[in-house]
Formats: sequence, structure tokens, C-alpha cells
Amino acid sequence: MPSYVITGVNRGIGYAFLQNLSSNPANTIVGLVRNVADTEAKIAEWKTPNIHLLPFDLRDPESLQKAAAATSKITSGSLDWLIANAGLIPEWSSYDPLSVLGRDAARLTQELNECFSTNVVGQVHLFNAFMPLILKGEVKKVLTLSSGLADTEVAAKYKLYEGAPYSISKAAMNMVTSKYQAEFADKGVLFLGICPGPVNTGQYEHITEEDRKKLMHRAEKFEAYAPGNKGLSEPDDAVKDVLRVAENASLANGDGGAYLSHFGTKRWL
Ligand SMILES: NC(=O)c1ccc[n+]([C@@H]2O[C@H](COP(=O)([O-])OP(=O)(O)OC[C@H]3O[C@@H](n4cnc5c(N)ncnc54)[C@H](OP(=O)(O)O)[C@@H]3O)[C@@H](O)[C@H]2O)c1
Repeated sequence: MPSYVITGVNRGIGYAFLQNLSSNPANTIVGLVRNVADTEAKIAEWKTPNIHLLPFDLRDPESLQKAAAATSKITSGSLDWLIANAGLIPEWSSYDPLSVLGRDAARLTQELNECFSTNVVGQVHLFNAFMPLILKGEVKKVLTLSSGLADTEVAAKYKLYEGAPYSISKAAMNMVTSKYQAEFADKGVLFLGICPGPVNTGQYEHITEEDRKKLMHRAEKFEAYAPGNKGLSEPDDAVKDVLRVAENASLANGDGGAYLSHFGTKRWL
């Protein structure tokens, strides 16, 4: 009866994780969301008794401690999988390079800080809150949704200046994964950062014409990196890919602290 904590299950990839993993009645799923009532209403028709929704906010460490204590009561003090899915993908800084963003220094500072506090600091507090449960689990896997945009060499080689605050925070998060792996390898815990590939979670539905042109320019760079790449995937498919990679990964195979794509390699597209 594996137990899972998944963050940010109300929409996007987290919602697809919730749907996929709760479809096996043997799994116990704890989904962390900012708005429990809205999410309950959204999944009411599923009628899956193995889902428990709890409130949290990555910017509020106390909420993470409370969520861990409430999870412990549901799972009898242990946890097999922690899936750190929730994250901030800001819009404003998605398309322009840092020097252009820097023309509005205050806004850039704000976006850098928000990305760091949500995508890095929040995850550290999340891991700390749930580690006592993971250490008592059987599977002992901690998975973070990373991004190919955090690959420093690819960013430089393919001139991927877009989304810098987000990319910087995801690159920092890869180091968080390494630091936890360094601390907990001897206790049998596997930490992984896996990129789901580009996934359609509605992020481009309302963008301006000007931003769409910039998006096409980024797509040309993606094409140079991986000619013929299939572009956006759907969340269900991305989740299947990520779970396959995470399930196959192990400390014994040397995957501790790995930063991998949905293919299980360093090929991001
Ligand atoms: N989509 C992609 O193409 C892609 C590619 C590579 C990596 N990823 C990564 O995959 C993960 C999921 O992406 P997605 O596309 O599904 O994102 P999304 O649709 O923007 O959903 C983000 C989720 O994170 C939650 N969240 C944001 N800030 C939070 C906070 N301070 N506290 C608690 N929850 C917070 C959101 O909750 P609210 O609804 O309450 O805001 C939502 O559940 C992210 O970590 C992202 O970086 C995505």
C-alpha cells in the first residue's frame, strides 16, 4: 500500500499525478493544495476514497509542518513517496532576456525573489517537514519536478535566455536535490529531479501577440536543439513518463541526486 504526498494537485501536472496515482485503490494519496474546497469540488465525481486533501503554502513553513503532522495521522507515521510538483512559473519574465527585464529593476527583483522563495526555499521546508515520515517509509523516494531550462550548458549553447528567474530557481533546486542526497543516501533515501518535458498546462492560452512571437523564437531554439521534437505533451502522458523514470531509478543503479528528463536521460526534448 504505497503512500504518496503530491504538492499542487489542483491543476496542471499535479492534477494529472493525482488522477493517475489515485486510480490504483491500493495507493494512499495525500494531495497538498492552497484551496482544499475548490479541489474537492473539482474531483468530487471521481469518488476515490484513497485521496486526502490538505492545505499548504510553500511560502509558509508552518503550513508545511501542519501538513506533515496531518499526513502522519493518515499514513500511520510513514511516507513512501514525496512528489514536489508545485512550483511558480511566472509569466512576466517568460520571454525577455535579463538585461531587458532589468529595465524594471524592482519588478525583476520581485520575480527573482518570488521564484527563489517558492521554487527553492519552500521546497527545502517541504523536504524538512516530511523527511521524518520518508525515513519511516519503505520506498523512500523524493521526486522534484525539475526543468530542462535549468541545464546551464544547454541554456548557454542554444541561447535560451528566456525565463531566467524561473530557470535560475530550478537550477538552484537541482543543488538542493544534491544536498539532500548527500545527507540521506546512507539512510536509503533517493532524491531525483525529473523534467516532464514541455507540457500543456494552459500557460500559453492568454498570451499577447507580442509574447507569442517571442514564444515562436524560443520554439526555433528548441528545434535547433532537438530537430523534429513533438512540442507540448498532455499532462497525463507527461506524468506517465515521469513516473516510469522515477520508478526505475534507484540508489543501487547510481541514480542518487540525478537530474533527468522524462526520457530518463539528459535529452530534454
Ligand atoms: N508545464 C511545463 O511545461 C513544465 C515543464 C518543466 C517543469 N515543469 C514543472 O512541473 C511542475 C508543475 O508544472 P505545471 O505546468 O503543472 O504548473 P501550473 O499549472 O502553473 O501549476 C502550478 C501548481 O503549483 C502550485 N503553487 C504555485 N505556487 C505555490 C505556492 N506558493 N504554494 C503552494 N502551491 C503553489 C499551484 O497552486 P495554485 O493553483 O494555488 O496557484 C499549482 O497547483 C512545476 O514545478 C513546474 O516547474 C513544468
